[in-house]
Amino acid sequence: MGAEDTSGARESAGRTTRVLVGVTGSIAAYKACELVRLLVKAGHDVVPITTPGAERFVARETFEALARRESPRALYPHLLEADLLVVAPLSANTLAKLAHGLADTVLTEAALAFRGPLVLAPAMNARMWEHPATQANVALLAGRGAHLVGPATGELAEGETGAGRMAEPEEIAARIQDLLGGGGGPLAGRRVLVTAGGTREPLDAVRFVGNRSSGRMGVALAAEAAARGADVTLLAANLAVPAPPGVHTVETPTAADLAREALARGPEADVVLMAAAVADYRPADPSAAKRPKDAEPWAVTLEPTQDVLAELGLRARENGRESVLVGFAADHGERGLERAREKLAAKNGTLFVFNDVSRDDIGFDSELNEVTVVSESGEHVIGKRDKRAVAAAILDEVATLLGGGQG
Ligand SMILES: Cc1cc2nc3c(=O)[nH]c(=O)nc-3n(C[C@H](O)[C@H](O)[C@H](O)COP(=O)(O)O)c2cc1C
Repeated sequence: MGAEDTSGARESAGRTTRVLVGVTGSIAAYKACELVRLLVKAGHDVVPITTPGAERFVARETFEALARRESPRALYPHLLEADLLVVAPLSANTLAKLAHGLADTVLTEAALAFRGPLVLAPAMNARMWEHPATQANVALLAGRGAHLVGPATGELAEGETGAGRMAEPEEIAARIQDLLGGGGGPLAGRRVLVTAGGTREPLDAVRFVGNRSSGRMGVALAAEAAARGADVTLLAANLAVPAPPGVHTVETPTAADLAREALARGPEADVVLMAAAVADYRPADPSAAKRPKDAEPWAVTLEPTQDVLAELGLRARENGRESVLVGFAADHGERGLERAREKLAAKNGTLFVFNDVSRDDIGFDSELNEVTVVSESGEHVIGKRDKRAVAAAILDEVATLLGGGQG
């Protein structure tokens, strides 16, 4: 990095906030144009920093025109006065460099020298995102306090579907606004407990009774709550998808593990979202060793597990706490919906989200969902959409309930 700024760019006046916008070599680079436009519109002084990779997709001049300034050749003076650095889209390559402190482009140099908030919006192929190397790098960055926005799950550039699509520019701009405004997101200061996945109940040392839940819906809820500024704890039961960055994840593989953690943490939470498929029954007498194969039938007695939601509902009522308790019911057809209505009353929940598992186009193993939200004041359908969008709609209702209940 040179010592002198030769860009001739205008200085930000008074307390105008300065946002450095890093853009890397991803097919999503075109979306950064909209992000720059939104930030300029919001009154920020925007300094674009493109990598050579990014310039294969969008010319630097495009960002300069949108930011109404040239990209500085010497960044140091801008760094000292910058309020925030956002990298959107963030390629797997630059993500790895940021995690390990490499400084071989103007952007990675700037990131290493910058001391303010760092907002990262990864964009990549789902297999790159899910690779253990990328996940380890994300964990390093999140551990150092980077603010991750997305990636979203959905259709990717190669025609595949999965996690890796860059968050929408509006969502990234909103997160930047929250951080610069200092007020946090709409759920800032709220403690949210989410359960996700499907429990596995041991039959013996190697076999278990399980279910088909992938954990996608709960993971989407945890990611969405974190994006809205909540302090999120995720109780993870055998997830088939990676836990989202920026949330505290606790492994709870069995119904007993999940019950223990949920009952310890639930009473402190403002919102409890019980999206995990927790076994209703478990083998009564699991064997500590592996049962050898023989010609005899193996009769297993299943005993009921603890009903965590009902227990939390009871405790909330006894303590007079105004927390929002959301139950999820995976059931069949119209009778299932009736059972969800009955459960709402019986378990002292605030909302019940009914998922019709008799349909094979939504629910288990699917990226999509369509649910019916049942509450005391009535019920309505959240139409078929990406699970992250379903999570957003559910959290909109939760935020309304929190606003009404706690001011
Ligand atoms: C058409 C095309 C699309 C690409 N899209 C992505 C992407 O979305 N995410 C990503 O991590 N890399 C993507 N790459 C690969 C990066 O451009 C490549 O790793 C590059 O070295 C990134 O450099 P940078 O991080 O310095 O910008 C793409 C490459 C091509 C040719």
